[in-house]
Amino acid sequence: MAKSALSFVCQNCGAAYNRWQGKCDGCGEWNTLAEEDITGATTMPVSVRSRRKGRLFTLETLTGKTQDAPRLSSGMAELDRVTGGGFVRGSVLLVGGDPGIGKSTLLTQATSLLARAGHRAVYISGEEAVAQVRLRAERLGLADAPVQLAAETSVEDIVATLSEGTVPRLVVIDSIQTMWTDTVESAPGTVTQVRASAQALIRFAKKSGAALILVGHVTKDGQIAGPRVVEHMVDAVLSFEGEGSQQFRILRAVKNRFGPTDEIGVFEMTGLGLREVSNPSELFLSERDLGSPGTAVFAGIEGTRPVLVELQALVAPTSLGTPRRAVVGWDSSRLSMVLAVLEAHCGVKLSGHDVYFNVAGGLRINEPAADLAAAAALVSSLTNAQLPTDAVYFGEISLSGAVRPVAQTSARLKEAAKLGFGRAVLPESARGDIGSDAGLSLDTVAGLTTLVADIAARG
Ligand code: TYD
Ligand code: MG
Repeated sequence: MAKSALSFVCQNCGAAYNRWQGKCDGCGEWNTLAEEDITGATTMPVSVRSRRKGRLFTLETLTGKTQDAPRLSSGMAELDRVTGGGFVRGSVLLVGGDPGIGKSTLLTQATSLLARAGHRAVYISGEEAVAQVRLRAERLGLADAPVQLAAETSVEDIVATLSEGTVPRLVVIDSIQTMWTDTVESAPGTVTQVRASAQALIRFAKKSGAALILVGHVTKDGQIAGPRVVEHMVDAVLSFEGEGSQQFRILRAVKNRFGPTDEIGVFEMTGLGLREVSNPSELFLSERDLGSPGTAVFAGIEGTRPVLVELQALVAPTSLGTPRRAVVGWDSSRLSMVLAVLEAHCGVKLSGHDVYFNVAGGLRINEPAADLAAAAALVSSLTNAQLPTDAVYFGEISLSGAVRPVAQTSARLKEAAKLGFGRAVLPESARGDIGSDAGLSLDTVAGLTTLVADIAARG
């Protein structure tokens, strides 16, 4: 009989300590340590287990076999894009996101579509009753789909149920924080429980070949275990993001063992569930404010897909000693860099101004190619000069104030031309990458000074 082992476990990152302390050394969070009984989290001593030999494979003998495990399309192109082409057999996905963002809606739709296509798909809810899940499916127009539903929180019961009959192709667990296993003593929701439950479910997925999706709530107060402890155990982590006030939802891969991590899936939350947005540029530009200075359209690339998005800047004289710099959707140190280059090389005085910067539609941009569009929006706001409404901008700015070329110039231009833009402002050195017919007129700039002078001339 194992002795009960008490330990202090950080509810945010899962680090364990012998003594209580105010701050977790693992993740730096305060007041996240809680006493947990971790008996049973450790397995039996080796001497008790029967010793079995592991099997070794050579890579070349496996080559043919990977083709036996094709990907299973979810029936939603935007979801497949993010997973890298569908669910891989036996793989485990963690879908994280704020409460109410639409995780249950997305996964109800995915399981229903799979079930309709004739696959065994199981949706297990630990948060809602079966009737509630059915109500949602009804609202989504999917009530006729032969999805198998269960309202269950005991991992042992779930695994027993799933092991009956044909192997399910997809199992959704909504959410991992509500699951508990009787192999550990801690209360449901604690890190030890979440980790042990996830382990048991993952073991089932790997053994049976069913694709498993775990839903995880991201909580800010650290009361319920964040899904971060599970992140290391799964094959892919997808994050479902969006701003409460807006209808756009963006699915992004944070980690993916079987696909890219730079693709995004774009959805729109409607009264009838999530609608896939196959042309995000149209959506992001749909509410453009054409008449005002301080906005510039950036021709960006997300994964393999060009995405046009509006960048908005507001530059206003400050009343504070240290001016404010507020950024949404872009890297704040990147903004500081662009401001410093404008100030040092172009004589644009911004140190007496507050700067607010926003990427429209809730998109988050990581590309340095956004520098030029950001600079254009900033200068436009400062000088109160409206930018041409039919222009897109892209290019990276170097610390010396030069505008440098970026990848995929022609894809960006093609998307802009498709959406009816008439001209593009881009790096001088990108000219070589462009074929004879770009489809729109090109304003090339070699340095940031040229751009600033052009905008000032319009004011
Ligand atoms: P839900 O999927 O329950 O979120 P999560 O599982 O991430 O907590 O979605 C909750 C929100 O979505 C809720 O505020 C209502 C809204 N919603 C719609 O707007 N349309 C719909 O068809 C559905 C099902 C939900
Ligand atoms: Mg939910």
